[in-house]
Amino acid sequence: MCFCIGYLGLKSADKNFSDSQSQSKRKKEETEFYNQIFHKKRYTILPVNSEDLKEFYHQKRILVTGGLGFIGSNLAIELVRLGARVTILDGLIPGLGGNEFNIEPIKHRVNLVIGDLSHLSHLGNLQKILSSQDIIFNLAGTHSHVDSMKNPLKDMQLTCEPQIVFLEACRKYNPKVKIIMAGTRNQYGKPHYLPVDEHHPLEPLDINGAHWLAVENYHLLYYRVYGLATCSLRLTNTYGPRHQMRHPYQGILNWFVRLSLDGKPIPLFGTGLQHRDMNYVDDVCNAFLLAARSDSTTGEMYNVGGESISLADFAGEVVKIIGKGKVVTAPFPKEQKRIEPGDYKANWHKIHKDLGWQPYTSIKNGLRKTIRFYERYKDHYW
Ligand SMILES: NC(=O)c1ccc[n+]([C@@H]2O[C@H](COP(=O)([O-])OP(=O)(O)OC[C@H]3O[C@@H](n4cnc5c(N)ncnc54)[C@H](O)[C@@H]3O)[C@@H](O)[C@H]2O)c1
Repeated sequence: MCFCIGYLGLKSADKNFSDSQSQSKRKKEETEFYNQIFHKKRYTILPVNSEDLKEFYHQKRILVTGGLGFIGSNLAIELVRLGARVTILDGLIPGLGGNEFNIEPIKHRVNLVIGDLSHLSHLGNLQKILSSQDIIFNLAGTHSHVDSMKNPLKDMQLTCEPQIVFLEACRKYNPKVKIIMAGTRNQYGKPHYLPVDEHHPLEPLDINGAHWLAVENYHLLYYRVYGLATCSLRLTNTYGPRHQMRHPYQGILNWFVRLSLDGKPIPLFGTGLQHRDMNYVDDVCNAFLLAARSDSTTGEMYNVGGESISLADFAGEVVKIIGKGKVVTAPFPKEQKRIEPGDYKANWHKIHKDLGWQPYTSIKNGLRKTIRFYERYKDHYW
């Protein structure tokens, strides 16, 4: 497996000799970095010391927005395990991944508030909820690319509006709180080069990506102007237990698992050879835990990358483990072709250097855990 796909054609026309020299130096450094992480030490060390995290999170008051959803609920479960005092705020927005069963193992140990960020002022105890928190993990949102193109205004109401209401409330009731938000690789659009680092141009291809770019900017603006301690983690394709399984519009990786468990074909658009960074949800949660612990992340944004693999290989692995279904190719639907970014590979050097984060779950292991979860709890997700 190769983690350095190499640099695709750069946009700027004036690629002079020194540019290409520094690019090839950068490329060499990247290759060494990924080789070191993935080939020599691959999956043999844990990126974080769990005892350190326990010490930090013990008795911390944490709010997880979107905490009934996929990533938010996995994070809330880990926070409870670390001894934190967790409040979940979720609007159970129709069509998204909110599911009360997601927090079954911790339901008696968290404070659950059902409410929409857009209507925060309607929550009677809003001031109390917000002002008492040490950290907020802001995971409320939607990331349906196709839906956002069909209904851009609705996406704005789901993505931008609630986040401004939320930031205004934080500024008012808890200006010292640390906030880690979930950004997305979609903020970059079609890569000019791979792996994509944080300096890459931000040219989203779909409305939802543009809205998350705006939301990240709101967060960083509230830091610059009001001093709110915000940070954004730009996530890639994430899979694992507790993702909704009713439709493919909020992420396709788990959808592949559903199709295979149902013995149905998994359709891949085009050749299916597009590479993506796949990330197991526990690795993503670790990135959030580490980012909130460090003061140096304030006002920053980080790529959270994963394991680079083609959609076809990922789907093939799903079918191999489950032993049902098959992978087929299909022509791209027109509306999807327009917003297809092609290969994506994140450069996550920055988060590794600053926080020691790295993904440590192989796709095989991550998929096994995911499949086991849905075989057992299918009734709550189908
Ligand atoms: N899953 C991925 O692959 C991925 C990739 C990139 C970015 N992200 C981002 O990570 C975050 C979490 O994603 P997820 O996969 O867990 O999604 P999810 O749909 O499983 O969970 C999102 C949760 O947020 C809640 N929510 C949404 N808008 C809300 C609002 N206005 N007020 C209160 N609650 C609201 C929903 O009810 C849902 O429970 C999202 O912001 C998403 O854009 C996810």
